[in-house]
Amino acid sequence: MKFGWLEVAALASASVASANPLAYSPPYYPSPWMTGEGDWSEAYKRAVDFVSNLTLAEKVNLTTGAGWEQERCVGETGGIPRLGMWGMCMQDSPLGVRDSDYNSGFPAGVNVAATWDKRLAYQRGMAMGEEHRDKGVDVQLGPVAGPIGKYPDGGRNWEGFAPDPVLTGVMMAETIKGMQDAGVIACAKHYIGNEQEHFRQSGEAQGYGYNISQSVSSNIDDKTMHELYLWPFVDAIRAGVGSIMCSYNQINNSYGCANSYTLNKLLKGELGFQGFVMSDWGAHHSGVESALAGLDMSMPGDVYLGSPYSYWGTNLTISVLNGTVPEWRVDDMAVRIMAAYYKVGRDRFRTPPNFSSWTRDEYGFEHFIVSENYVKLNERVNVQRDHAQVIRKIGSDSTVLLKNQRGALPLTHDEKFIAILGEDAGSNAYGANGCSDRGCDNGTLAMGWGSGTANFPYLITPEQAIQNEVLDYSNGQTNVFAVTDNWALTEMAALASQASVALVFVNADSGEGYINVDGNEGDRKNLTLWKNGEEVIKTATQNCNNTIVVIHSTAAVLISDWYDNDNITAILWAGLPGQESGRSLVDVLYGRINPGGKTPFTWGKTRKDYGPAILTVPNNGDGAPQDNFDDGVFIDYRRFDKDNTEPIYEFGYGLSYTSFEFSDLKVTPLTPTPYNPTTGKSDKAPVLGEAESASDNLYPEGLHRVTQYLYPWLNSTDLRASSGDPDYGMDSKDYLPEGATDGSPQDLLPASGQDGGNPGLFEDLFQVTATITNTGSVTGDEVPQLYVSLGGEDDPAKVLRQFDRVTIAPGQLVQWTTTLTRRDLSNWDVASQNWVISDAQKTVHVGNSSRKLPLSAALPSVQ
Ligand SMILES: *[C@@H]1O[C@H](CO)[C@@H](O)[C@H](O)[C@H]1NC(C)=O
Ligand SMILES: *[C@@H]1O[C@H](CO)[C@@H](O)[C@H](O)[C@H]1NC(C)=O
Ligand SMILES: *[C@@H]1O[C@H](CO)[C@@H](O)[C@H](O)[C@H]1NC(C)=O
Ligand SMILES: *[C@@H]1O[C@H](CO)[C@@H](O)[C@H](O)[C@H]1NC(C)=O
Ligand SMILES: *[C@@H]1O[C@H](CO)[C@@H](O)[C@H](O)[C@H]1NC(C)=O
Ligand SMILES: *[C@@H]1O[C@H](CO)[C@@H](O)[C@H](O)[C@H]1NC(C)=O
Ligand SMILES: *[C@@H]1O[C@H](CO)[C@@H](O)[C@H](O)[C@H]1NC(C)=O
Ligand SMILES: *[C@@H]1O[C@H](CO)[C@@H](O)[C@H](O)[C@H]1NC(C)=O
Ligand SMILES: *[C@@H]1O[C@H](CO)[C@@H](O)[C@H](O)[C@H]1NC(C)=O
Ligand SMILES: *[C@@H]1O[C@H](CO)[C@@H](O)[C@H](O)[C@H]1NC(C)=O
Ligand SMILES: *[C@@H]1O[C@H](CO)[C@@H](O)[C@H](O)[C@H]1NC(C)=O
Repeated sequence: MKFGWLEVAALASASVASANPLAYSPPYYPSPWMTGEGDWSEAYKRAVDFVSNLTLAEKVNLTTGAGWEQERCVGETGGIPRLGMWGMCMQDSPLGVRDSDYNSGFPAGVNVAATWDKRLAYQRGMAMGEEHRDKGVDVQLGPVAGPIGKYPDGGRNWEGFAPDPVLTGVMMAETIKGMQDAGVIACAKHYIGNEQEHFRQSGEAQGYGYNISQSVSSNIDDKTMHELYLWPFVDAIRAGVGSIMCSYNQINNSYGCANSYTLNKLLKGELGFQGFVMSDWGAHHSGVESALAGLDMSMPGDVYLGSPYSYWGTNLTISVLNGTVPEWRVDDMAVRIMAAYYKVGRDRFRTPPNFSSWTRDEYGFEHFIVSENYVKLNERVNVQRDHAQVIRKIGSDSTVLLKNQRGALPLTHDEKFIAILGEDAGSNAYGANGCSDRGCDNGTLAMGWGSGTANFPYLITPEQAIQNEVLDYSNGQTNVFAVTDNWALTEMAALASQASVALVFVNADSGEGYINVDGNEGDRKNLTLWKNGEEVIKTATQNCNNTIVVIHSTAAVLISDWYDNDNITAILWAGLPGQESGRSLVDVLYGRINPGGKTPFTWGKTRKDYGPAILTVPNNGDGAPQDNFDDGVFIDYRRFDKDNTEPIYEFGYGLSYTSFEFSDLKVTPLTPTPYNPTTGKSDKAPVLGEAESASDNLYPEGLHRVTQYLYPWLNSTDLRASSGDPDYGMDSKDYLPEGATDGSPQDLLPASGQDGGNPGLFEDLFQVTATITNTGSVTGDEVPQLYVSLGGEDDPAKVLRQFDRVTIAPGQLVQWTTTLTRRDLSNWDVASQNWVISDAQKTVHVGNSSRKLPLSAALPSVQ
């Protein structure tokens, strides 16, 4: 693994002989250096200034974590004590500060997507950023666009947004802006093709009894990469994201954190990414190779979690001294890290971390893993502010009303008898944080499991909120009871048969691969409800003709068996709403908030309808399982459209307590400048330091070494001995990839130009307007959605391109105006390695779901 390019070369020659060659990732070197494009220019200048003043060991310190559980945060780099700078703190998660206390538990990304509300995405990003900032975090590890959701049963889909690149891309961008405006660095992850939990790491897979020696390879063709998986990362880069996390999986049989094609070519070359690339925890598998392939920071620094050694740290210093990694490459790593730091204002906002990820005790060991230095660890700083408000609002605004018959909703305060049925309505008998990293499905579901979680400060259950509502407003006129044992069907039946309304709560959970909950190794093993959910629903419907089903789930569940039962008068999907779960729901149930959420994924009749299954059986001996992304860009609604499969509820669908009409579509051509492929060359790589020798980099005399701590220094001037690597020197210069150390000016890629790619891609070509009328009797929110048919034979029937969320009073009309960019109308052309607008006739469609598109217009052709 260490000499991945040798393996790749071997694979390439093997592929000549083999009829069924393994996918191969072409080399791309050298690693593009930062240039200070656009918004980055000021931060770049300051970073260059700062880094110019550093020694080699100081630069290396910025690039390498101190080791697993060596400092307070889930990952922390070395510092630069000479300049009064402590190490940089990386902390999970995409929905709040993980492993801490007195912090908020925000709604998951999938709920943000379900709001279709850019402002709420920004506000949540800002609120989460403030909490991380106030806890002393430098980099919040989120948001997520990988997985995007190729598989409906993918364990971590909920951490991200939606299986659509535009909805995900817009929410990524708004979240990042919010987080970085609050003064912390965002980290867009997991780059790229990280679509399933099974086999993402060989060690984890072995723990489950799969005998594999390498991570799964996501084999993705260039067009699919650009048109689907890379798309939201473009939006993240355009939003100025400071860091990107490379993923555990391989792409075309080359590891995510050492893949020169995805990191050097796509990310830093074509997209001009100016920030830094950090490894996922344990996704770093090589020293020199990953440095040359574009990795900038090793997390948490050690060879494996808890190892006293590192591929970088001392080894990175040595590889500069022995000439395999050029000085400019390490300078570039440090400049990228410091530029992100200045860009978001870390120099103004910084406080030292005031909590520990490893214990909730007030006092404990600073170097937790080696039990050294007993200090006050947790200062228990409350960072929640008034964030409960935005949490409650997102919870309500993300609730999707899937069915509502016979005026079942909203409820009134005259209800005679309310039966609350289902464990998912109640609390976890172990406490809301009772299962570490939410690794169980006890009580109401308000977050998935894994590292993408935060501790709750409290969790308002649906049962609690409904009881409170009744007590506060029903003057003792309403009876209300709950049965929260999902196997107490007799008791449920007795209650349901007396009820004027039965509120049934069911769920389906999923999470990260290192935790197995009820046989689900991260990914879900089925798409059905958990914990006897179907039987609970059946018990209610057999006994109550006004059954309302509320679903908390990480993604789609199969509802075919019951959704159309006449006794089910309403169905709500509430996703993973976070700490205010019950209150958010009650606001919708009682009509204080008119539901306007739209489902951010398709509800199919069977699992088969979604396309290929997750790879759960190794298919390449003990080598890397091969996950061929043969479905191309056809995931979720694009797959249903292609196969002409009728879903139950389509992507973008959701009801309201009022009704809307769409009319008056107008398309106005604008006058963009012609599209120009970028040409020319970059500047040469800046070199910011003096050449140093081994003797300049020895451990300082008298230094007190923390046990196992990863320092940048050498034991002796003997480089081989200081490395301790039995394979030291095997990558002598002949084996370095061609051009990998070349710091001379390099050709620019045609689709490049500024951060995010060629600026011509983001020019507006058309303005589109439509009118939306509220034809009902209450104020409500509608989500106008614009889809484009690109018209080519290989194109999806339609793709989402623009959307918004607007509030409209009864009888009121709103004119919605949006634009289409060149990117919105282009396909990726593999031959020219650029975006092109095909000759095929293109059509725009506007409406309020992917299958309710009453307005259409042909687009005039574009030169
Ligand atoms: C993977 O291989 C496909 C097929 O050759 C190619 O189109 C694509 O660009 C490759 N991607 C990477 C990241 O190597
Ligand atoms: C560089 O270091 C010197 C002293 O070591 C200090 O005076 C100077 O301000 C530093 N410059 C920067 C940009 O940090
Ligand atoms: C590297 O970081 C560690 C931890 O902050 C610190 O003890 C050490 O002095 C740093 N080394 C250099 C060269 O600054
Ligand atoms: C795992 O695979 C290796 C290599 O093929 C083999 O030597 C070993 O016996 C296998 N282990 C198990 C437990 O099957
Ligand atoms: C250097 O890296 C090699 C793996 O490439 C590892 O075996 C060795 O322990 C590392 N050395 C140090 C000092 O971390
Ligand atoms: C809580 O979750 C654990 C872990 O999944 C499970 O073993 C236990 O039965 C659950 N307890 C209750 C009361 O639901
Ligand atoms: C699907 O998985 C859930 C969670 O493990 C389990 O409760 C349920 O029984 C499974 N469904 C079927 C049909 O096996
Ligand atoms: C609907 O509910 C009523 C009780 O109100 C019950 O008699 C009837 O059998 C139920 N229908 C179905 C299809 O379960
Ligand atoms: C349920 O059945 C009762 C009694 O037949 C009837 O009065 C009521 O309208 C029904 N409710 C619904 C929502 O159909
Ligand atoms: C460097 O020295 C330390 C302290 O003596 C020792 O623990 C470590 O193993 C040495 N590193 C290598 C690579 O030999
Ligand atoms: C240079 O140093 C690195 C880090 O210890 C080592 O992996 C590599 O094999 C060395 N290369 C040469 C040519 O000495």
